Amino acid sequence: MDTAIYRLDDYCLTDAVSEADREKLKKAAEILAGGGLVAFPTETVYGLGGNALNPESSRRIYAAKGRPSDNPLIVHIADIGDLGPLVSNIPESARRLAERFWPGPMTMVFKKSGLVPKETTGGLDTIAVRFPVHPVAMELIRLAGVPVAAPSANLSGRPSTTTAEHCIEDLSGRIDAIVDGGGAEIGVESTIIDVSGPVPQLLRPGAVTKEMIEDTLGIVLPEDPAIKGPLAPGVRPKAPGMKYRHYAPKAPLQLVVGRDGYTGVAAAAAELLRSKLKAGFRPALLCTPECLEEMKTLDSFSEKDIIIRLAGSRANRQQTAHDLFEMLRELDETEAEYIVAEGCPEDQLGQAIMNRLKKAAAWQILYV
Ligand code: TXA
Ligand code: MG
Repeated sequence: MDTAIYRLDDYCLTDAVSEADREKLKKAAEILAGGGLVAFPTETVYGLGGNALNPESSRRIYAAKGRPSDNPLIVHIADIGDLGPLVSNIPESARRLAERFWPGPMTMVFKKSGLVPKETTGGLDTIAVRFPVHPVAMELIRLAGVPVAAPSANLSGRPSTTTAEHCIEDLSGRIDAIVDGGGAEIGVESTIIDVSGPVPQLLRPGAVTKEMIEDTLGIVLPEDPAIKGPLAPGVRPKAPGMKYRHYAPKAPLQLVVGRDGYTGVAAAAAELLRSKLKAGFRPALLCTPECLEEMKTLDSFSEKDIIIRLAGSRANRQQTAHDLFEMLRELDETEAEYIVAEGCPEDQLGQAIMNRLKKAAAWQILYV
């Protein structure tokens, strides 16, 4: 299949979509409405969209991604009024969260209505809904005139895509079109909160943080064990996607985490790199500039023969989240046989970053 690429001229997040760009989006929207698949930018990561009400479109999404069909899709809307028909009721907690965080990087899980086919929800009787704030995503969904089911636009098992180039790498020839609207601002996927039960539950951390949700609802959220550690054998996670390793780089990744902030992280990472070099492996380092500077002061560290990628900084975790998947993809293009990655404290956005890093590490974590 030939994949059409619609490159938008204006990537600006704050501006409305221009006329020329709207014409391209109209073509993409026609594809969606007609049952085809289109990758498009959102503020979190790129999504692989299809008509959420068309079971065949959802089947095609699973096939294009190589994704197990028990892993449900997030349904995207572009108007708060489009939520009602998709769900069987809207709890008070959801109203409050929607008021504060929609449109934006938050997904809520509701009991679904009869309108939504089981193919879209991976057989579940709940539905995940998101109202993205990206102007291109909003305009595309509006023009399509249907709710748009969209998982992250990557091949199953690869890091989520944050640029159109990543989508081309993974999905060219497998889907009808890709809308290039520039880089995704946030870089990690949306926060998922389940409001379908008696107590709201955080299923996946994202840019809308646990702290922000707790502040809005005036409650303390229970911890979902699937977020911070591997699940015990036989335990099913509430978000089916959390059971997959995901974001797996080609080389094994060892995560180094400080028990007390960043103390000892640089020294432990330097030691790991040295022992891997000695054993004849080509190691890579994924860290912040602060960590690298600290390592340079150590006798045990030399940059020679180490592949280095920097992601954000300790002082700017937003940037770390933004760079993370891109750097993991870059490392896949290198000779790296072993990756040492620096962790960060698990508060605020750190929880989202660490959730992705831990999964990339297949839970191989060294606490120092
Ligand atoms: O930021 C995002 O959320 C991106 C953009 C494109 O919107 N989408 C995204 O979708 O990350 P995906 O499919 O890669 O991740 C969706 C996650 C999966 O872990 C899935 O199991 C979970 O949401 N999920 C979907 N529907 C659910 C449901 N009804 N109940 C529990 N978890 C659900
Ligand atoms: Mg995904």
